Parts: sequence; structure tokens; C-alpha cells
Amino acid sequence: MFELAIWNFKARLYQWFRNRFPFAFIIRREQQAVEMLLQQIPRPVQTVVDLGTGLGDALSLLKQATCRIGLDQSVAMLKVARRKNGDASFIAGDACGTPFHDHTTDLVFAIGLFEYMADPATLFQEISRILSPNGHALVSISPRSLWTALRKLHGLPLYPMNLSEFQVIAEHYSFEISNSRKTMMQQQVLLRKRERSEA
Ligand SMILES: C[S@@+](CC[C@H](N)C(=O)[O-])C[C@H]1O[C@@H](n2cnc3c(N)ncnc32)[C@H](O)[C@@H]1O
Repeated sequence: MFELAIWNFKARLYQWFRNRFPFAFIIRREQQAVEMLLQQIPRPVQTVVDLGTGLGDALSLLKQATCRIGLDQSVAMLKVARRKNGDASFIAGDACGTPFHDHTTDLVFAIGLFEYMADPATLFQEISRILSPNGHALVSISPRSLWTALRKLHGLPLYPMNLSEFQVIAEHYSFEISNSRKTMMQQQVLLRKRERSEA
């Protein structure tokens, strides 16, 4: 698959780019936004699954969780992620069809993933399936902008989405948007899954 080959290739250079200007600056801002949204989750997170984990950077923000699992389709990315996060577990697979049991996860991360999904509803459905009632998802989207248009030049198909479009899908899967932040290229969104009685 063409996309997977690109991610496997990128894995070798990914950290190098992320440590350098301007990417280091942009990524630091994105990470601060995620950290700020994490603080708004009202109860301790015991189980966290990071879909499209890449190098596992989101998992390293939740070292206190008892179970931390990163999933990615790229084995090359996971190889680096394992080296960086020795005490987390990593699984190769498709974010839209994971091996996790229903309603077992307190928090699902999907950072930098929705913009690569031609069918974002499928990913939403999977996040909804594995999240426990009242669980949270912390995800990012790429709003339509000049930056997003420029990112299309890097060779992978990209599917930008504004927050209003994202909200429609979120509500369909019984999520409410708790809060969101905007950085240069991303919008980070904290979602809470409604209890059945609230739906
Ligand atoms: C932009 S990177 C984001 C990595 C990480 N979440 C971060 O924020 O640094 C996107 C990652 O998603 C993975 N990915 C893309 N589509 C996927 C899919 N359908 N299932 C699992 N992983 C996927 C890619 O292999 C890549 O590692």
C-alpha cells in the first residue's frame, strides 16, 4: 500500500525533523495544547490507547496511566516508538479495526490521524466502540487553511475538516465536544462520550 510505504520511509527521518526549526516550535505548541486539554479530564486515566501513535509521543504525556498502548499501521514507526517508551505496549494494526475489547478504554488519542482518513466516520465508530461510557477522546483535525493546502504537497492524501463538520460526526456517535484548541496546523479537540442514558 502506497501510504504505508511512505510512513515506513518517513519513520527514519521523523524524529530528526521534529527536533528542528520550524517543526520543533510547531510541535511544541501542539503538545502544549494537548497537555492543556488533558488537564480538563475530570477523573484519573488508567487505560489509554493511542491510535496512529507514530513515535508514541502522546503516550509519554500520560506516564501515570496503568495501561498505555500505542497502535500504528507502520512497523517502522513502532520500532522507534518502542525504543522511546520502554514501559508502554505497541501493536501493529489498523486504527479503524483494532483488537481492543468493547468499552474498555478511559482515553483514546488520535493525534494527527483524522486528516488521513477518507472516511472519518469509521474511525469515530471504532473510538466509540473501545471507549468506556463517559470516556474521553483527545484527537486532532486539520482545518481547511493555507497550511493544510501546503501539507498536501508532502505526497499523502489529506482530508481537511473544520470543527463544525467534525462536530456533526461527533454528535452522530454520541460525543460532545468538551473543549478545543487551535494551533498553526491543527485543531485539538477533547471529546466526551455520552452515557447511554444521556444519548
Ligand atoms: C502524522 S503521524 C502522527 C503520529 C503521532 N500521533 C503524533 O502526533 O506524533 C500519523 C501516524 O498515523 C499512522 N496511520 C495512518 N493511518 C493509519 C491507520 N489507518 N491505522 C493505523 N495507523 C495509521 C501513520 O503510520 C503515522 O504513524
